[in-house]
Amino acid sequence: MLPMNTVKRMLVGRASLRPLVSCRYGHIISVHRDTKANNADIPFEFSKENLKRAETIIAKYPSQYKKAAVMPLLDLGQRQLGFTSLSVMNYVAKLLDIPPMRVYEVASFYTMYHRKPVGKFHVQVCTTTPCQLCNSDNVIKTIVEYLGIKPGQTTADGVFSLEEVECLGACVNAPMIQINDDYFEDLDSSEKVIQILEDLKAGKKPKVGTTKRETCEPFSGPKVLKGEPLDVKSVTRDDL
Ligand code: FES
Repeated sequence: MLPMNTVKRMLVGRASLRPLVSCRYGHIISVHRDTKANNADIPFEFSKENLKRAETIIAKYPSQYKKAAVMPLLDLGQRQLGFTSLSVMNYVAKLLDIPPMRVYEVASFYTMYHRKPVGKFHVQVCTTTPCQLCNSDNVIKTIVEYLGIKPGQTTADGVFSLEEVECLGACVNAPMIQINDDYFEDLDSSEKVIQILEDLKAGKKPKVGTTKRETCEPFSGPKVLKGEPLDVKSVTRDDL
């Protein structure tokens, strides 16, 4: 048992931290609940083209390890249907000869698999430490206010859905969001975020990537790799 003074110090420490910790929304309930749009009775199978793609993917792995194809196949199913439904997961399990639970485990772990229908533009806001330190709180607040939905919800017209996610691997250009397959980075003002959403709404294609530099070089300009790219042949053997 901890001495009372230590407990008090811990409580005081926690209380003093509280204002710094922002409220987060859990985005996934890992328990499946049958709905009209998502239940095991809804048939699903790959289209002819996707079945061909799936066969190519499966062929990359030794036959006893074909279960390794579970992630690309789930992705294929999601792209075909729009989300990773129970039927998609069951179909992939059957195709790979593995228990459905093995597929559920993967699909419920990664936020890239949407286990319920999402909007035409699925907005994922990264709020992990580097993005949070660069004010991802403002990004999420702006989107919530502009779209009138909270993380986990879809707009009434089905155009936008919002999700809060962990690091998307673009920390150098934080804060950032992902919309469908595109990244939008260095979102250091509400205006930039709103402009992206407005462009999408208007059917325009907003510029992908950083909003304030060339790529991910320092803000003071590139420090390395400034010359012409090296001719690899000049430093390797002739016969390579
Ligand atoms: S922390 Fe946001 S992209 Fe890595």
